[in-house]
Amino acid sequence: MIELFDTHAHIDDEQFDADREDVIIRAAEKGVKYILCAGASMESSARAVALAESHPDVYAAVGVHPHDAGTVNEEDYLQLAQWATLPKVAAIGEIGLDYYYDLSPRDVQKTVFGRQLDLARQVGKPFIIHDRDAHGDILDIVRKQAQGLSGVFHCFSGSWEMAKELLKLGYYLAIGGPVTFKNAAKVQRVAAQIPLDRLLIETDCPYLTPHPHRGHRNEPAYVRLVAEEIARIRNISLEELAAATTFNAKQLFKIE
Ligand code: NI
Repeated sequence: MIELFDTHAHIDDEQFDADREDVIIRAAEKGVKYILCAGASMESSARAVALAESHPDVYAAVGVHPHDAGTVNEEDYLQLAQWATLPKVAAIGEIGLDYYYDLSPRDVQKTVFGRQLDLARQVGKPFIIHDRDAHGDILDIVRKQAQGLSGVFHCFSGSWEMAKELLKLGYYLAIGGPVTFKNAAKVQRVAAQIPLDRLLIETDCPYLTPHPHRGHRNEPAYVRLVAEEIARIRNISLEELAAATTFNAKQLFKIE
């Protein structure tokens, strides 16, 4: 039986309220043993922690997404720091910059991102980065403020040139459902060329549903479709792809 690791899922989302336990069971039936539930706000971080505490193979990341950066106060940083020390909290995330939606002012996004990188350093845990149209500033900030930390760029959608920069800095890249889309040449090229020991897989569910389920809710079981597509692109077996990506995730998140 293969063991897959969905390294980025929002199973706390209200879209899963009606059938969350079934979703987790369905994932296990597809070989998805581990799920990391990524926080994006204070509320979703709290829900991620609760899910991780109540399910042995679910882990949490806590953090505030750039969309909500404008709302973070000092009390929130203290709460994040408290959660971050819990054993089932595997990472700080998702954090970063989003210049596509620009829902918080850019200087605020940068400050909140930097403070959460400091938190990752303080608790000795990796970070999970959301980067939308902000490659230059993200690179700048991680070069200055994340030295010596480990982390992953989630749902990586950049060019192979950007990927090479991040690989040089020692980071992992996580590939999601878009690799299965038509016209996905750029991400397929990255998926083909990332060294196998730097590659993670994810769903980002309920968003970014892979082919052939596009138009429906995404869920962790579908990370298998991502794994199958990357294995096909790399011309290796699903077993090899699964073993490598799950090993990588356990290394990054310090599991077992
Ligand atoms: Ni996400």
